[in-house]
Amino acid sequence: MLNERELIDKLRKNHTLSRDEWIRLIRNRDDDSAQYLFAAAREIRHAVYGDMVYIRGLIEISSYCKNDCYYCGIRRSNRCAQRYRLSREEILGCVDTGYDLGFRTFVLQGGEDPFYTDNVLCSIIQNIKDNYPDCAVTLSLGERSKESYRCLFEAGADRYLLRHETASERHYAVLHPPELQLSNRKECLYTLKRIGYQTGSGFMVGSPGQTAENLAEDMLFLKELNPQMVGIGPFIPHKDTPFGNQPAGTVELTLFMLGLLRLMLPNALLPATTALGTLDPEGREKGILAGANVVMPNLSPAAVRKKYLLYNNKLCTGDEAAESIQRLKERFASIGCRIVTDRGDFRQLI
Ligand code: 5AD
Repeated sequence: MLNERELIDKLRKNHTLSRDEWIRLIRNRDDDSAQYLFAAAREIRHAVYGDMVYIRGLIEISSYCKNDCYYCGIRRSNRCAQRYRLSREEILGCVDTGYDLGFRTFVLQGGEDPFYTDNVLCSIIQNIKDNYPDCAVTLSLGERSKESYRCLFEAGADRYLLRHETASERHYAVLHPPELQLSNRKECLYTLKRIGYQTGSGFMVGSPGQTAENLAEDMLFLKELNPQMVGIGPFIPHKDTPFGNQPAGTVELTLFMLGLLRLMLPNALLPATTALGTLDPEGREKGILAGANVVMPNLSPAAVRKKYLLYNNKLCTGDEAAESIQRLKERFASIGCRIVTDRGDFRQLI
């Protein structure tokens, strides 16, 4: 039987492992195997993307959501959540600010808010593209119909982020109410890819009830989907949700999973997420050193930032804020990485 280092070598060579191998590697990980993994992940990231780290300006357009996911602070049953939605003018204002700061990708993220019909969104996307044809628009607005995804793509959206959250049916039902189905989530992801979006999926690490088997399923599903982007971050409880008293996921396991993802999908765009930065002040640097190559600072208007509270203590100021891009540049320079003003499209190199 292969030891952990040998499993990592195998993954690096074949970009895949069997279900049992994934489980064994995740279960038996230790500091030695983690350091070995991260060194390999950095080498591969460097071969594909050099020293470049891409930035995305995150605009949280709505804290209304019609879904009731048990982990999420903006779930519809949370009566304490402060709700807001941004107007077209506010969104375009964020884009102007972001463009001047050097952002060339804008991510419009929000709860599933029926206010944002296809017509409303298409016209906002067209406005952004008219004003800044050199920029990419990424959407992160949950499950929508095929027709809707197509219409938004035709309006100019380039990318779509939709985490699968967990690839195990049983675990999906632990995290979501019955009206949300993993099969539908997967269908959406395949549709997005088919339409031509650069597509992102991903999962939470350490969500309630998650096992090493579940994480192995996540890796197998992602291998099959082969998305251009994968966003993962530790689960962090939100006090006004059913999981308010559950323990948070760990930075350690999140970093390990990031390293594995880099070896499995060498070309992928992998963000060092806000949740990672929330649990550890050096979380983002650690994420980059484990194989990530994207950061997504917050470009939402200052007045609403505290209202888009997916989990307790979510970062939105300090170096998380887009205005602090200079400080972020210095922090990444100290670990040998360069933040670039670039759309940062997916590259198929390996
Ligand atoms: N902890 C960590 N991540 C969360 N998300 C939602 N709620 C939480 C939480 N409590 C993540 C989900 C979602 C993304 C926008 O935020 O994975 O896809």
